[in-house]
Amino acid sequence: MNILVIHGPNLNFLGRREPETYGRMTLKQLNALIIKRASRKKAKVRVFQSNCEGAIIDLIAKNMDWADWLIINPAAFTHYSYAIRDAIKASGLPALEVHLTDISKREPFRKTSVTAAVCVKQIKGMGHNSYLSALDFCVAAAEKNGKKS
Ligand code: DQA
Repeated sequence: MNILVIHGPNLNFLGRREPETYGRMTLKQLNALIIKRASRKKAKVRVFQSNCEGAIIDLIAKNMDWADWLIINPAAFTHYSYAIRDAIKASGLPALEVHLTDISKREPFRKTSVTAAVCVKQIKGMGHNSYLSALDFCVAAAEKNGKKS
């Protein structure tokens, strides 16, 4: 199975960005873990990061025919990007919204997700394990539907 993973804005700063909140793992290290877990599960992944709303929408559009699932951390766009919400829905892909932190326990503006409603599930608050758990979820869902990974 094919999984498209998209990291939103400022996640390129992981490792040095508010480490008390986001941890010390860099994006490169996180992506290596994602790729390793995917290959263990015999899934193919394409992993991207962008700071631009339009670029994220283009990534979804470009990869939607390849992907079986979308795992997306829309980062700050989570809280206000109707454009990304519409793109997720337009793609028709089953999507998982992931967050390193538990956005429900942070500042009030982070409690709202405009993208969660078009995702199968929101996985949050587990640091890098939010992504790994999302990967496991996709693979388990595909296996349940009788699709070989
Ligand atoms: C985040 C939470 C968002 O509120 C924030 O803007 C991010 C990261 C997370 O993974 O916890 O950039 O999506």
